[in-house]
Amino acid sequence: MRIEPAPAILGHLAVPGDKSISHRAVLLGAICDGETRIEGFGRSADTEATIAAVRALGVTVYEADSVTLRVFGNGLRGLRAPDEPIDCGNAGTLMRLLAGVLAGQPGRFTLTGDESLTTRPMERIAEPLRRLGVEVETTDGHAPLTITGGTVGSTTYELPVASAQVKSAILLAGLFGDAETTVVEPLPTRDHTESMLAAAGATVRRRPGSVTVQPAERLQLGDVEVPGDFSSAAPFIVAGTLLAGSELTLHGLNLNPRRIGLLGVLERMGANITVFNRRRIAGEAAGDLDVRPAALVGTDVSAKEVPALVDELPLFALLAAHAHGDSRLRGAEELRAKETDRIEAVVEGLRRIGAHIRATDDGFVVRGVPARLRGGWMASHGDHRIAMLAAVAGLVSREGVEIREPESVAVSFPGFYELLDSIRLIPSTGAPAPR
Ligand code: S3P
Repeated sequence: MRIEPAPAILGHLAVPGDKSISHRAVLLGAICDGETRIEGFGRSADTEATIAAVRALGVTVYEADSVTLRVFGNGLRGLRAPDEPIDCGNAGTLMRLLAGVLAGQPGRFTLTGDESLTTRPMERIAEPLRRLGVEVETTDGHAPLTITGGTVGSTTYELPVASAQVKSAILLAGLFGDAETTVVEPLPTRDHTESMLAAAGATVRRRPGSVTVQPAERLQLGDVEVPGDFSSAAPFIVAGTLLAGSELTLHGLNLNPRRIGLLGVLERMGANITVFNRRRIAGEAAGDLDVRPAALVGTDVSAKEVPALVDELPLFALLAAHAHGDSRLRGAEELRAKETDRIEAVVEGLRRIGAHIRATDDGFVVRGVPARLRGGWMASHGDHRIAMLAAVAGLVSREGVEIREPESVAVSFPGFYELLDSIRLIPSTGAPAPR
């Protein structure tokens, strides 16, 4: 797939429903009493794997249309162990959160995944689940992993790394505990699980730096409306900022403060973004964004900012490459444990198309030049966020970017290229090449 340079992107758009919230709504719906109706479901390969997983566990999911699901929950302890392993595909969120849910289900469950997921660290959930008295076996610290569920104790667990997936796995297991369970976080990470648990009737106590969940008797979620995924909007926000002449409006986005760290970084860099129509969707902050182009200056992103833009850090590298002055990312070693080693993938890809960027152990250093990068080719490494980075890089380059393994975008955003194509301004014939 080749993405040609464009002078601007123009228009109004809405992106699919938030992936993190979509996973959680299906997983929680599966252990609720009665029906959970999910509107605005973010359909993607990852969230399809979640539907398939709960179906394999005996839950009925009716797909009224592509974005409307009805999940008929089996109750708190009603999941049944299938004969076959449950395939989580590429979805780390599914594997880690489901492990927490299965901790409370009587039976023996095996979770597996694709080539990328089976290399990602799973001791980070196995260890706290064992502390809760659950039997968990990993394969050298990775999937396939086997959980023998049913009896869950209680614990106070200090997360060694800031991870919403690990926090969520422990909180979900804590629903089945014999007393309250507390997770202490080194830094605030996305809080969709605790919000949704509270909405479903669980007793959740939130303090700065920790979350406590009480054992639950029953959960009921009812209706969930999923706001647009900020992480899926981010490539468009970056393209609209970098392309002079862009006029872009994004509607109905999740603006949970723990997800929108990119907006703060963009503001420091001098971006021209306005949030309007602030509202709440499914208990989450939401709103619309106007994005206009701007000349950027370099900035540093520190460890404490990382969780709020963890999935947007590849795009930060592209912004930094176009800014005036130097930029640096620190404290982001977690990027090496994502769908691919995102520090290596970003640095290798952006260098190849002309950026001045070098990797460090925990991030990267960028020397910005406020001009278009040359272009060339970039490999997605089968990672959806890197494929989307490459697409934006192509749009804002001089010569375009050829993306190797472009189809990986389907992991989170199947219609990404079509949407991008629909808002890009085609340069008129004979016009000078964009600079
Ligand atoms: C997610 C949490 C983040 C993020 C991932 C989705 C979630 O991972 O990178 O894409 O839905 O909880 P970590 O919590 O492991 O950093």
